[in-house]
Parts: sequence; structure tokens; C-alpha cells
Amino acid sequence: MLFKQQALLRQKLFVLGSLAIGSLLYLVARVGSLDRLQPLCPIDGRFGPRSQDEIPLRALQFKRGLLHEFRKGNATKEQIRLHNLVQQLPKAIIIGVRKGGTRALLEMLNLHPAVVKASQEIHFFDNDENYAKGIEWYRKKMPFSYPHQITIEKSPAYFITEEVPERIYKMNSSIKLLIIVREPTTRAISDYTQVLEGKERKNKTYYKFEKLAIDPNTCEVNTKYKAVRTSIYTKHLERWLKYFPIEQFHIVDGDRLIIEPLPELQLVEKFLNLPPRISQYNLYFNATRGFYCLRFNIVFNKCLAGSKGRIHPEVDTSVITKLRKFFHPFNQKFYQITGRTFNWP
Ligand code: A3P
Repeated sequence: MLFKQQALLRQKLFVLGSLAIGSLLYLVARVGSLDRLQPLCPIDGRFGPRSQDEIPLRALQFKRGLLHEFRKGNATKEQIRLHNLVQQLPKAIIIGVRKGGTRALLEMLNLHPAVVKASQEIHFFDNDENYAKGIEWYRKKMPFSYPHQITIEKSPAYFITEEVPERIYKMNSSIKLLIIVREPTTRAISDYTQVLEGKERKNKTYYKFEKLAIDPNTCEVNTKYKAVRTSIYTKHLERWLKYFPIEQFHIVDGDRLIIEPLPELQLVEKFLNLPPRISQYNLYFNATRGFYCLRFNIVFNKCLAGSKGRIHPEVDTSVITKLRKFFHPFNQKFYQITGRTFNWP
């Protein structure tokens, strides 16, 4: 009898002990496991001088959980005041290109403790109705952040919309602009796939890609088709260059971001003048998804939504060849302007 009671007691103690260790591990994870993996370094220069009340990165990391709650709207005015949180205009914008990997880039940059993302596409500069609401409306759409963090938003329609460069220039002529590109024909097919899925969801019929991309009368590439036009990167970039010098742009290789994201992210950190904080630890390949997913710490992981990484329809090889030939001279010009060469066929 006594032996049975002792065994029961030992079992209870074991369960309690496991719970205590589990909670401890959870707490350790929440305060940011990244700090244990990398040295701390200050953010310097480009985003303004360090001031007296700057919060060191370590503190930012500690408060990330809190920020997350605030961003979900779970903060009182008192908490916002107490923690000195602000809604800041973006210091960098991912302006495109649609289907280039803009969401993956934003989410991956958000792993950096000094970056805060605007989760939704705001469409302030490309939508006249929104733009008419004024810059304060735009600022109020931004997430709460600490004053020395930088806010980044992405709206891929900005890249191709005529009025946007001038409007962004008027807000901040020294803003950093990120453009993520993919091999133009693949991007066009990805663009088509997204529209096709939307049509199918609404039970609508849609044309085959080949029919849209090639003009049936001339048998040439149909430059009126939006998915084709968007992939003529140099044409759009040239409009932006009327307002911003090329040094204010950074081109991200979207094809490489899929298979080897870290080096691409490190280049962006450098461009934004952020200390290198995103590491291999933050990115792990998920075989089920077939893509890299994000690891914030030992507790919080996430993959992108299923709408990212769709299976593309088969496209006639002669159409692909024709498109590649069509994009070739534009690509050469794009390499020349940006100083970044890709192995696009
Ligand atoms: P596909 O759906 O054609 O594969 P955007 O966010 O600009 O709409 O881009 C979507 C593309 O991001 C996807 O195109 C996908 O290939 C790419 N992508 C890059 N990294 C990804 C990741 N880690 N998870 C999911 N998709 C990713």
C-alpha cells in the first residue's frame, strides 16, 4: 500500500517537474532565441543618428511579443504611451513586382528585430481614392513600432502604376525601394495562374495562357496582355528613374529567394544598412510545402499561405520560347541599368 502511494507521489512530481521545465523553455523562447545565436550590433547611419532614448536591439527583441499584441489591436492608449510606440511612415517599400515573391520577401525581412512590416497591402499610392485621403491616413495604416525600428510595406501594384513614383517622391525623396523580380516568362505564367484561380473560384471560364500571351492575328507576343507588360521590367523601372537615382533601388532575385533565401536577405540587410541579424536558423526548408518557411524562435514557426507557390499550368514550349525571345532585349537593358545580371534565357 505504502509502496503504491510512493509510486503515485513520484509520478505526480514527475508530471509537475515536466510542466515547470516546459514553461521555462517556453519563456526562454519568447524572449528571443536569436540573441543567443548572434552577437548584438548597433544600427547605424542611414536611418538617422542614434539618439539618447534609442532602444537597443536586445530590448526590441524582448518586446516583440508585446508589439505583436499591439499590432493586433490589443493595446490600450496607456500602453502605447508607456512603451513609446509610434506609427511610422515606411523607410523602405517593396514596390513590386507582382508574383516576384513580394510576400515572402516582406515576411522574411520581418524576421529582423529592427523591421516591422505592414501586414496588408495598403494601396495608398496607386489608388486615387486612398491617395486623396492624405498622408496621415496612410501613416495610421502602419503598425505600431518603436521609434528606431523601420516600417516596411509592400504593394506590388506600385511598380507598374504611372502616378506612383511621383507620389512616393513627394512623401520621401530618399526612401529605399525594393524590387523583387523573377525570370519574366515564369512570372507572367505565375500571374496568369493567380487570375485563373480567381476565375475558377467564381466558376468562370478563362482562356488558356497561350491564347492570351500570343496575338492570334499576328502570331507575335501580345504586348497588350497585362501579364506580359508587367514582365517588361525595364520599361517600368525607367519611369521610376525619372524621380529616383538607381542607388535608391535594390533588386532582389526572386528565383534565388525561393531556393536559397539567406544570401538574398543579407544583401537587403546591407542595402537597408541594418546589422546582419537574419540567420540560417530563421529559415528552414519545409519539404511538404516545397518552400522555405520562417522560424522566429523555438516556439514560433510559419510558412506562407497556400496561395503562394501554386502549381503552374503546362504551357506550350513554342510559346515559352517566343516569350523568352521577346523579353531578351528588355532583360539586357534591365541588367545594364541595375548592374545586376540574371541567368534568364
Ligand atoms: P508561385 O505561386 O508562382 O510559385 P508574390 O508574393 O509576389 O505574389 O509572389 C508569389 C511567389 O512567391 C510564389 O509564386 C512563390 O514561388 C514565391 N515564393 C518565394 N519564396 C516563397 C516561400 N518561402 N514560400 C512560398 N512562396 C514563395
